[in-house]
Amino acid sequence: MLSASDLAKPQIIEVLDLAHEMSDVNEREIKKLPTLRGKTVVNLFFEDSTRTRISFELAAKRLSADVINFAAKGSSVSKGESLKDTAQTLEAMGADAIVLRHGSSGSAYRLAHSGWVQSAVINAGDGSHEHPTQALLDAMTIRQALVTNPIGSDLSGKKVLIVGDISHSRVARSNLILLKALGATVATCGPATLVPRSLEPSGGIFYSLDKAIDEFAPDAVLMLRIQSERMEASFFPTEREYSRVWGMNSERLSRLGDSAIVLHPGPMNRGLEIDAASADSPKSKILDQVQNGVAVRMAVLFHLLAGDKGEKS
Ligand code: CP
Repeated sequence: MLSASDLAKPQIIEVLDLAHEMSDVNEREIKKLPTLRGKTVVNLFFEDSTRTRISFELAAKRLSADVINFAAKGSSVSKGESLKDTAQTLEAMGADAIVLRHGSSGSAYRLAHSGWVQSAVINAGDGSHEHPTQALLDAMTIRQALVTNPIGSDLSGKKVLIVGDISHSRVARSNLILLKALGATVATCGPATLVPRSLEPSGGIFYSLDKAIDEFAPDAVLMLRIQSERMEASFFPTEREYSRVWGMNSERLSRLGDSAIVLHPGPMNRGLEIDAASADSPKSKILDQVQNGVAVRMAVLFHLLAGDKGEKS
């Protein structure tokens, strides 16, 4: 599971439907299935994470797998150990799946296709390239909120606006692929310095959030974090100016349709790309995204490690 493009539309719908079933498990008093008993999942994280790492851990545990959490900080990576040697060391301890977050674009592909390891490899974010399970959980959240009978459904006719630092965003890249595959119309919006024309979103490019809200009339607005850690230059005049032109606030929220929703992959810069009132409003589905992240990752681990042999109940 390296890229959102690894999945064709029927497979995406299959994963989302299974995630929906997994959500029911997460509502039970005993939130546990025996499906992956005896399997070992390694969370191999070279970059910081709250949501992705913890939700993969929880997902694996809820399917009864053993979990090893590896963080580069405090490991032998600080002594110069490479990705190859680190991954092979963990596989020698019995890993069946490696969930990799790494600062270099292409690192998950390299790990999966170099012949270094035999384990399943899941891309949990590689540089500014892709974050496919984030796109799956975003699609699940949009489908749940906007489609009356979500099971088996795609996102045909739905309009999604992705706003902010598109250039540095692996979330934007995976969402553009996945939402398009599901039939949604996707537009991008942000400062010209942060919105690449090369991505060619089907709904067009907007350089003003006000104009995007009025002309595109999105059903869902995905606000992105300004990724200062990936910026080597100044891409907008000031944070105040960014917030004024491209930030989500109560006034803009009130101009969205009654059923429209707002998403953010987290972590949020409150007051910069989204204000507190918008983040905490009834239109915000940010905590639903977090909740769906566990279910989606259960579904992905199930598909990769259990296959047809898995017992779901
Ligand atoms: N959305 C996301 O990837 O969050 P984390 O960096 O906390 O995992």
